[in-house]
Amino acid sequence: MNWQTRVTDLLKIKYPIIQGGLAYLAYSKLAAAVSNAGGLGQITAMSLKSPDLLRAEIRKVKQLTNNPFGVNFAIGQHNRSFADFLQVAIEEKVPVISMTGGNPAPIFEQLKGVSVKKLVLVAARRQAVKAEELGADAVMVVGQEGGGHLGRDDIGTFVLVPQVVDAVSIPVIASGGIGDGRGLMAALSLGAEGIEMGTRFIATKECVHANDAYKKALVEGNETDTVVIKRSLGAPARAIANSWTEKILEIEKNNGTYEQLKDFISGLANQRYIYEGAVNEGFAWAGQVMGLIKDIPSVDELLKRMITEAEQIRAKWAK
Ligand SMILES: Cc1cc2nc3c(=O)[nH]c(=O)nc-3n(C[C@H](O)[C@H](O)[C@H](O)COP(=O)(O)O)c2cc1C
Repeated sequence: MNWQTRVTDLLKIKYPIIQGGLAYLAYSKLAAAVSNAGGLGQITAMSLKSPDLLRAEIRKVKQLTNNPFGVNFAIGQHNRSFADFLQVAIEEKVPVISMTGGNPAPIFEQLKGVSVKKLVLVAARRQAVKAEELGADAVMVVGQEGGGHLGRDDIGTFVLVPQVVDAVSIPVIASGGIGDGRGLMAALSLGAEGIEMGTRFIATKECVHANDAYKKALVEGNETDTVVIKRSLGAPARAIANSWTEKILEIEKNNGTYEQLKDFISGLANQRYIYEGAVNEGFAWAGQVMGLIKDIPSVDELLKRMITEAEQIRAKWAK
């Protein structure tokens, strides 16, 4: 069956499926596996300690796949400057740059005259319109059920996506709460021309940086096992509920300051859970879609299964 959309044409991929930026988890092995399976894999630039390490990681992806891939920049969540990292991505001629988490204008400025596809991940209609004005080739729109950082308006994917489809003329990629072929078909029905998944890709064999305890929590947990933290800081983000996030929510409820919160929400606390498997001494991002995750397949098995499910739905509708 033909899966061609404006998103597959733009990114030169077989299936309209994109692996989202995944802080501290999206490196060459996962990115290449997604791109080899017919989607668009990405590495997350700012998880790497230096621009040289980003260059090395990009070169590893190129060794592992001949297909297009992306480099993701979550600019709001890091104190470091991204300009040197972006320069490396430009020099390495990566086909796709995605960005989120802050004002993308400086990235567009630096990419002027560079031949690269530019994707912006947004969480609100007004941000999508702004991204189109700046020159985005497509927008990814993440709803409230997603994992990691979210919008402040608490709008779910089902309402957000059609609104954005009506508001912009560039292609829209739906994100947040998608984990199987039904989600893919639903997104296309809403007018999206592709999907982005985050949480589902963590529970795969090639997400080698995620500790088994993290993957187990995704498989065993259900849709009610996530919470939104950091709301009091104006940066709501969805994580697996545990005693650590309970402490965070308690501090937030008592109007705690950033100083009181910072050790609880640090990258180190994140890494203790996701790398070391210390499931109550740190936190791990995940979306409500964890309720749909029942196994840890290879990326190729996952994409094949999703496409088969989606094609069965199409065949049923065609009757
Ligand atoms: C562990 C984790 C880390 C994330 N880190 C980033 C990131 O660095 N950059 C980014 O653009 N999005 C990041 N996201 C968001 C995802 O790319 C994606 O938009 C989101 O996971 C979609 O919702 P889903 O989890 O329901 O699939 C992260 C999500 C998760 C679960």
